[in-house]
Amino acid sequence: MLLTIDGVLTPQELSTVRALLSQARWASGSATAGVQAATVKNNEQVEEGSPPLAQAREIVLTALNRNALFFSAALPARILPPFFNRYRGQTNHYGPHVDGAVRRGGDGRWLRTDVSATLFLSDPASYDGGELTVHDTFGVHRVKLAAGAMVVYPSSSVHEVAPVMRGERIACFMFIESLVRDPLARRVLFDLDMALVELRAQLGETPPLVRLTGVYHNLLRRWAQG
Ligand code: NI
Repeated sequence: MLLTIDGVLTPQELSTVRALLSQARWASGSATAGVQAATVKNNEQVEEGSPPLAQAREIVLTALNRNALFFSAALPARILPPFFNRYRGQTNHYGPHVDGAVRRGGDGRWLRTDVSATLFLSDPASYDGGELTVHDTFGVHRVKLAAGAMVVYPSSSVHEVAPVMRGERIACFMFIESLVRDPLARRVLFDLDMALVELRAQLGETPPLVRLTGVYHNLLRRWAQG
């Protein structure tokens, strides 16, 4: 499932994150890539330990925590500290790859990557190219979103970032371990949750809706781990 979520960051948060990143130290992105991905990764990332990084991470994580759509789609158990990347000039693309299945978190523990997310931070009119292209069983999706919007997709998919031919593309990317490991189960829960929200708006709280809400929670209880 590929889902876009608009307005994850408020305009104020967006401008604060941009200002923080303008003071950050950038380094080659290949440092955090696996062996295959490193051969096709040609971008820059904010260096670990760069002073504005912690504050930018905090703003993004706060925004994720209040976003009900993100919670319903990803059912996050743990989120790796967000990374920030930049594509421009000679370091302007990331070829086809699958995200590594496990990554070490800031606390040293391994995290399984179930869901990946890209939060766009640059105005799309300010750069050419730079589409996130996700290949899945339903075809190829090209994603280029407004600044402050985010796309969520399965970490298991092959994806790439097309070359940026003008301007620069700055984004935040994240890896999430889900409470529900199976992508189909996550999809079923998301569809059920969205249908319940719509039905509740149309009908109010009715006894069958209470029972269906119970079905949602009992499925989540059955499938949630971690
Ligand atoms: Ni990736």
